[in-house]
Amino acid sequence: MKVAVPKEIAAGELRVALVPESVKKMVKAGIAVAVESGAGAASFLPDAEYKDAGAEIISDAAGLFAQGDFVLKVQPPTAGAGGRHEADLMREGAMLLGSLYPTRHVEIMRKLAARRVTAFSTDCIPRTTRAQAMDTLSSMANIAGYKGVLLAAEALPRYLPMFMTAAGTTFAAKVFVIGAGVAGLQAIATAKRLGAQVTATDVRPEVKEQIQSVGAKYIGIELAQSASAGGGYAAELSEEDKKRQRELLVEHCGTVDVIVTTALIGGVFAPKIITADMVRKMRPSTVIVDLAAEGGGNCELTKPGQTVVENGVTILAPLNLPSTVPQHASVLFSRNLTHFVLAFWKDGKFNLDLSDEILKGAVITHNGEIVHAKTKEAAGRAP
Ligand code: NAI
Repeated sequence: MKVAVPKEIAAGELRVALVPESVKKMVKAGIAVAVESGAGAASFLPDAEYKDAGAEIISDAAGLFAQGDFVLKVQPPTAGAGGRHEADLMREGAMLLGSLYPTRHVEIMRKLAARRVTAFSTDCIPRTTRAQAMDTLSSMANIAGYKGVLLAAEALPRYLPMFMTAAGTTFAAKVFVIGAGVAGLQAIATAKRLGAQVTATDVRPEVKEQIQSVGAKYIGIELAQSASAGGGYAAELSEEDKKRQRELLVEHCGTVDVIVTTALIGGVFAPKIITADMVRKMRPSTVIVDLAAEGGGNCELTKPGQTVVENGVTILAPLNLPSTVPQHASVLFSRNLTHFVLAFWKDGKFNLDLSDEILKGAVITHNGEIVHAKTKEAAGRAP
């Protein structure tokens, strides 16, 4: 089997799917690896390091895709210069692994099915103990939580830590984190390390202890109806609970300097938690970092990928933060993919056992069809 690693061509994407340390592991296991020339350059990984690790360097994308039995990517296949689509460059019947977000990219999934590609999406891998080492959602959300706080610090017109100086004392900034999953817990930890006073909320009751264990004060409402959907995911709040949460947040958001929002439902959809009216009641100079921007955002005024200033409140909605830390993001992403491939590498071949819970959850297209239920549903709705 030959694994092929193309250079990512999506706008702004600086990561690479496989780094040299992972190439070494694959080669040692008996898997041949081909890498497009320059694939790691934006992550400061020159071709020479890939070559030393045992990879073959291929100068052009078409030549690389033509050889790949198993293509490893960060972003879903996309159209490149000259209009040729990466999905069309793939060999019929080849396998693909990457963070495909299939329900957001139905047209690309149709293309992959038409090409008879067996495509696996890392963001659909079930969040189980066995699959933890393959979970790109968690490793990338961790980066987003960290970087989101740094962006807030940069945009805030005051210090995060308390300083006692000869000119007197300045008090620590107050940071409030909404949604304490992977990104939220890292945002809390980063803000604490920078000396802020941190509060946080979530709707899954089991998260309260985790918030406290990373050093933040938990605030929240007693829910009338449970919001745990299992597997670490939240369900949508009832109308009554939404109203009570809003009352609590209006008051608390008016007392803080930074708000980091990360709330997601079912791993895909971002509930609107901060209304335009709440923003108008905040203190001018407040900074909101909406990390859920990719799913539409947790704030009504969020414009994904842009900065909005409303009444002196700055709302940042950064996209693809992992790509702003490409060196570490690539290493972690690469380790996740390597764990996936090697977990099913048995006796010199990839064991495509689609009854295995990990492969069953992650497979999106197979045998010329979209087989992933939620993607099929989204494809049914899309023209
Ligand atoms: P997660 O699913 O682990 O965490 C989301 C948390 O939000 C859960 O703990 C959930 O209980 C909570 N939540 C849901 N509804 C809520 C509500 N109404 N009020 C309070 N909390 C609520 O997700 P993860 O992996 O931590 O990702 C968090 C966010 O970070 C996602 O929106 C994801 O798209 C985003 N992200 C953003 C990136 C960027 O570059 N902007 C990169 C990577 C992740």
